[in-house]
Order: sequence, then C-alpha cells, then structure tokens
Amino acid sequence: MPLPPLESIPPSVVSLDDYEPLARERVGDPVWAYLSGGAGDELTLRENRAAFERLTLLPRIFQDLSQANTRLNLFGRDYAHPVFIAPTAFHGMFHPGGELATVLGASAMETCMTVSTQAGTAIEDIARDATVAPWFQLYIQPDRGFTSDLVKRVEAAGCAALVVTADAPLHGLRNREQRAAFRVPPGLEPVNLRGMEPVPPADKVFGSHLLAKAPTWKDLDWLRFLTSLPIVLKGVLDSGDALEAMQHGVSGIIVSNHGGRTLDTVPAAIEVLPSISTVVQGRMPILLDGGIRRGTDVLKSLALGASAVMVGRPILHGLAAAGATGVAHVLKILRTELEIAMALTGRATLAGIDRSVLFTPPAS
Ligand SMILES: Cc1cc2nc3c(=O)[nH]c(=O)nc-3n(C[C@H](O)[C@H](O)[C@H](O)COP(=O)(O)O)c2cc1C
Repeated sequence: MPLPPLESIPPSVVSLDDYEPLARERVGDPVWAYLSGGAGDELTLRENRAAFERLTLLPRIFQDLSQANTRLNLFGRDYAHPVFIAPTAFHGMFHPGGELATVLGASAMETCMTVSTQAGTAIEDIARDATVAPWFQLYIQPDRGFTSDLVKRVEAAGCAALVVTADAPLHGLRNREQRAAFRVPPGLEPVNLRGMEPVPPADKVFGSHLLAKAPTWKDLDWLRFLTSLPIVLKGVLDSGDALEAMQHGVSGIIVSNHGGRTLDTVPAAIEVLPSISTVVQGRMPILLDGGIRRGTDVLKSLALGASAVMVGRPILHGLAAAGATGVAHVLKILRTELEIAMALTGRATLAGIDRSVLFTPPAS
C-alpha cells in the first residue's frame, strides 16, 4: 500500500534525488512506471543525466557578486529565476491536491508552471491560484475547432505563453509502462479536453487514423494567427527544425527529448543544445529540459545557450512526497544550488553566463 504524503520534510532531504525514494513509497507500481519510465530501452532517459555529468565547470575567484541575482525577462515578462516547471499530465495521480498543490508550491518559489493539456484540473482554476501567470502546453487536437476554443480559454485565463508540443504526434512505446499495465486511474480525466471526441486506439500506426490529423508546420501558422500569446515550440532537437520554427514566427523553442519518453536512442537535450544555439544566434530564447537535477545542470544549460530550463520528474517527486511543500522545496533546492554555482563560478547575473563557465580540456 502506498504511504500517505509526508506532513513535513525530514532534514536529511537535501537534494532532488533525495525526493525520489520518498515519492516511490507513495505511488503504486503502474503509476511509478508511468512517472519514471522512458521509451524503449531507456537509453535516452539515462543519457539525459550522463551528458550533464560529463560536463565540468571552471570556478572563478574574486568577482564582484554584491549585486548578484537570477532575474530574467522572457517574452516580455519578468521572472525571478530561470527554472520553470515542465508540463506533465494528471498531477492527481501523484497527490490528492493535483495541479492545485503544484501551483501552490510553484507560487511560493516565484516559479512559472506550465500546465499540461492533460492536466486533471481546469486551466482557469490553476491560473487563479498562480502568483506567476502559468504557461499552457498545447497538444494540437485532431479537432482544430476544439483546439481553437481551448486556446481562447487559455488566453482568457491569463496564461502568459502557449507551449506547443511537437515531438509526440503519437505515444512513444514505453515498455516499462506496458509491462506494468499502466492505465490512467479511474476518476482522473483531462478536464480541459472535455467535449473532445477521444481518439480511439488502433492496432497499427501507418494507414490508421492515428497520423491522419497529426499537426504540420501549416498548423503552426494557423495557430500563430489564432493567438497573440507567445508560442514556444517544445521538442526541438534538430537545428534545421529550430531554424524552420523561427521562420514560422515562434517566439521561442524548448530543446527537449520529452524526458526520454518518445523516441529512444536520440541524443540528450544538452548534447544538441550547442549546435542549436549556434544556428539560432540569439534571435529567440531557447529553453531546455531533460535531466535537470542540480543547480549546476541549470548553469551548464545556460552556459551552452539556454535562457531558462524546465524540470519534469523532480517536481512530481516533490508533489508525491509532500504536496505543495515538496514542490516548493524541490524548487528551493534548485534555486539555491544555482545561486551557489553562479557565485562560485563568478557569475553575478544570468547574462554573465557563457561557455567559459565550462572547463574545456586543452587540446593534446
Ligand atoms: C509523467 C510525465 C508526464 C509528462 N506529460 C507531458 C505532457 O503532458 N506534455 C508534454 O509536453 N510533456 C510531458 N512530459 C515531458 C516533460 O514536459 C519534460 O519534457 C520532461 O519530463 C523533462 O525531463 P525530466 O523529467 O528529466 O526533467 C511528461 C513527462 C513526465 C515524466
């Protein structure tokens, strides 16, 4: 039987990884497989961590840090720090408070939450409780009329950006989930999609209805004219796609392999970031997610060209372990680690972070 959420955080919990076992004890096996698993053999899932571990930092001494801060402006809005919550489905699977608990924890840490299309709570209710206007993650639905109505709701709710996820026109094959016979638990539904015809399952991919209405660049153009919200395209790994996204007028992109959950054996997000930031040349903000577990990972991402990062599973670990308090603590740990990493590498502002933060071994 899963344990109930913790009432308070034990003092021994000091890193994001410390939350994982606490979460594990509080969710059932199939839901754990859903939360933790990746596609196929989970090579990309592991690589998201390994690639960060291979990068090393170079400390700098005696820099003036008296005015140090982590502030940034993205798409015309000010944010206290560059750590955002990645969109993840059905928070009610992990804690009875669901997305409302997450947004409470996020608000305590001045953090922007991206709400999934597959949230179990109405976007209006989440936005009402948020002290930082949330972003909404959109899966373009087969029914474009429904999609358009949903975007209007998102605008009216006061969301600050539309995150359009492009890398999952169909579900990745997550074998860990399949083996655990994961199903969305009864009582949870994607309430923001109420009224949408559910997509029936199919026993084949090609030649079935599954890809008939998969979005293309044309749908992105349509969306751009439909909304005045900044559009941030999530799931870009190819530098040609990054350029094309820019030509189609997106406001920013998220370099992401969906936390290793869609196609296995693709590179870690941090590994492709340098080539993407080279082609983008600062003309639009780049965010990154996948494997961020330490403030040093945030710093490394910024060093390689990201303006901000998103965090997925650790937020759900905090949520499962201790609801809003757990979410807030996870974010607090990351923010503190980032500030310490910036101070010890002599960077007083995000603008001062560049590739020289990373140690490059001399060519032999
Ligand atoms: C349980 C779970 C559910 C997710 N649901 C969504 C989703 O609904 N929409 C989406 O764009 N990405 C979704 N993602 C991907 C995350 O937004 C993000 O790309 C990924 O979790 C980042 O990697 P990390 O978990 O290593 O931080 C999900 C990820 C997880 C772990």
